[in-house]
Amino acid sequence: MNLVNIDCLEYIKTLPDQSIDLILTDPPYNIAQYSTGNIPLPGRSAVNNDLGEWDLKEINPFDFVDDFKRILKPDGNIFIFTSYNLIGKWHEAFDPEFDTFQYFIWHKTNPMPKIFKNGFLNSCEMIVCLWNKKHKWNFSKQNEMHNYFECPICMGKERLKNPKHPSQKPLKLLRHLMTIGSNEGDTVFDPFMGVGSTGVAAKELNRNFIGCEIDPIFFEAAEKRIRETEIK
Ligand SMILES: C[S@@+](CC[C@H](N)C(=O)[O-])C[C@H]1O[C@@H](n2cnc3c(N)ncnc32)[C@H](O)[C@@H]1O
Repeated sequence: MNLVNIDCLEYIKTLPDQSIDLILTDPPYNIAQYSTGNIPLPGRSAVNNDLGEWDLKEINPFDFVDDFKRILKPDGNIFIFTSYNLIGKWHEAFDPEFDTFQYFIWHKTNPMPKIFKNGFLNSCEMIVCLWNKKHKWNFSKQNEMHNYFECPICMGKERLKNPKHPSQKPLKLLRHLMTIGSNEGDTVFDPFMGVGSTGVAAKELNRNFIGCEIDPIFFEAAEKRIRETEIK
């Protein structure tokens, strides 16, 4: 296991060619720029529309395509969480370089409410899926093969309170993707690990894990969570 607290663009350069079985990552969506701010609710905690400073720095998929391609094993897979405003750029950068580009939908069964009923709930998130001709999949039956998965957003005991990460992803979804796209003993890499959810799923499923996070507070929380899971 290797966890590092630096900019992933710098760190990726140090990873050897064809060393990673699965890249499972959740980079900033750059949607904070569209936020209308938090909505205060009487007697309840505010509806949190604001993400962090980290979501304001532009992510450019073209900055990642060469290194993701270089470090991935020929039979490896890539899953990248993204949003409506960036999916086109991921497609433009990655589709010409991989045999297959598909998208997968996560449907959140308990999305953030829209109290004024003035639009659809943001109950779906997109995940870009990429692979080459020799890729491995662990599907056992047809109904596991839908490019769709339903589960709640991360909550209860699983949700960290301190630090609180606005986009902590649920382990149930990460385990589903990781089980399909990798095997025990494989190496999973998350360059944008936040509070380490991919690392926790990797340890639970007996994968090696390499994780990178630029924010020192999120990094510290990730390291603690992943190490505690490893000890268990
Ligand atoms: C959407 S969040 C990931 C949340 C994660 N899936 C979880 O469950 O905790 C994206 C993370 O990427 C980090 N980040 C942004 N730019 C980065 C960079 N250049 N290198 C490494 N981490 C970065 C942010 O600090 C943020 O925690």
